[in-house]
Amino acid sequence: MANILTRTANNAMDWFTYRAPAFMPFYRKHMTEYYAPKNFNLWYIFGILATVVLANQIVTGIFLTMHFKPSAAEAFASVEYIMRDVAGGDTIRYMHSTGASMFFIVVYLHMFRGLMYGSYQKPRELVWILGMLIYLVLMAEAFMGYVLPWGQMSFWGAKVIISLFGAIPKIGPALTEWIMGDYLPSDATLNRFFALHVIALPLVLLLLVVLHLGALHEVGSNNPDGVEIKKGPKGNRWSPTAPADGVPFHPYYTVKDTFFVGCFLLIAAFIAFFAPAFGGWFLEHDNFTEANRLVTPAHIKPVWYYTPYYAMLRVVPHKLSGVIVMFAAIAILFVLPWLDRAKVKSYRYRGKLSWAMLLMFAISFVWLGKIGAGPGTDPVETIIGRVLTVYYFLFFLTMPVWTKIDKTKPVPERVTMHD
Ligand code: HEM
Repeated sequence: MANILTRTANNAMDWFTYRAPAFMPFYRKHMTEYYAPKNFNLWYIFGILATVVLANQIVTGIFLTMHFKPSAAEAFASVEYIMRDVAGGDTIRYMHSTGASMFFIVVYLHMFRGLMYGSYQKPRELVWILGMLIYLVLMAEAFMGYVLPWGQMSFWGAKVIISLFGAIPKIGPALTEWIMGDYLPSDATLNRFFALHVIALPLVLLLLVVLHLGALHEVGSNNPDGVEIKKGPKGNRWSPTAPADGVPFHPYYTVKDTFFVGCFLLIAAFIAFFAPAFGGWFLEHDNFTEANRLVTPAHIKPVWYYTPYYAMLRVVPHKLSGVIVMFAAIAILFVLPWLDRAKVKSYRYRGKLSWAMLLMFAISFVWLGKIGAGPGTDPVETIIGRVLTVYYFLFFLTMPVWTKIDKTKPVPERVTMHD
């Protein structure tokens, strides 16, 4: 019996390989013969987790689309219908809404890992830039998704954010009207956001993720030591030409990742089942009320993942300057690979100054997020917000100096293993 099964499987494989000869080399290049550094730690799980969340968003999104009505008159009621009448509809919706926040948690940790280990440095600049493009598209994707249920915060959030374009001299007002397709967020806005959210941006996102991984696999992964394993000794038990410090991605990391994906899914499921609104952080209370253009919510604020930038927008007194500062805060991340002049990649081998700068940067970003999520009425908080915004930019603008003058420790020739 086992013989017959093996023979059938082999025949099927031969049949397939004959007709798609490029498949097996592709699989080997990216899985069994992709040699990843053997010293990956838990920080290296977030890329895989982002891929898992992306898959979750696409699958649950397809099911939501089956019942959602993309019109201002029906959208809110259709979401209520999904929640109450569609079999499993509430689970699907909460998987999607929880997934959105989990996506950003995972992506922020993934980016922070890149910062800590200098993963954006040569030769991975392209990997970083593609990552940044993913981040931009992800923010647009989440913003448009948030507008779709047509709750109070969907409407007013869309109004505030789209109106920002109105601050651009000369073309501003016309541009705002063009984006909305009306003078206020309306049926036309909802329709186009739906089209962009369910098909255009997910396609771009998928393409960018493929390019991101393609670019990474050309140069190979970095690791917590920032040591290039391709430059080290050659030959391991799988291949005489492979880097000695590399292990085949499959099965070594696929097995390890599966365990952590399981842990992550447990946490995500716990949130989706028991705390989907997450105290108003993942789903805002105001969005459980239908959009009403005559009633403004007490505090209009975006979802938590935008609040650091939103805080910058608010603490800068002049509107156009605020908009510029906000966009500049994102744009500056694109040039990070050219700002860092350190001779070593990983912060493991950088000095105290670099650590202090990085730590303060992380604190500033989180604190700005907290300020952006608040009502924005406290003058002391506004001043703190300004100081943090200045630090955010100083971190990047002075990076060529402090990365150069900071002391570094000797980097080992081979990767190191920690228990
Ligand atoms: C949908 C979002 C994303 C997905 C699915 C994704 C996926 C991945 C995967 C699977 C890896 C390899 C495993 C790992 O190193 O964790 C990776 C590596 C990497 N990603 Fe992403 N990524 C995303 C967003 C981003 C963003 C926003 C950035 C930064 C702006 C970024 C920067 C990087 C870098 C620099 C590496 C190489 C890390 C290293 O080798 O040390 N990624 N990504």
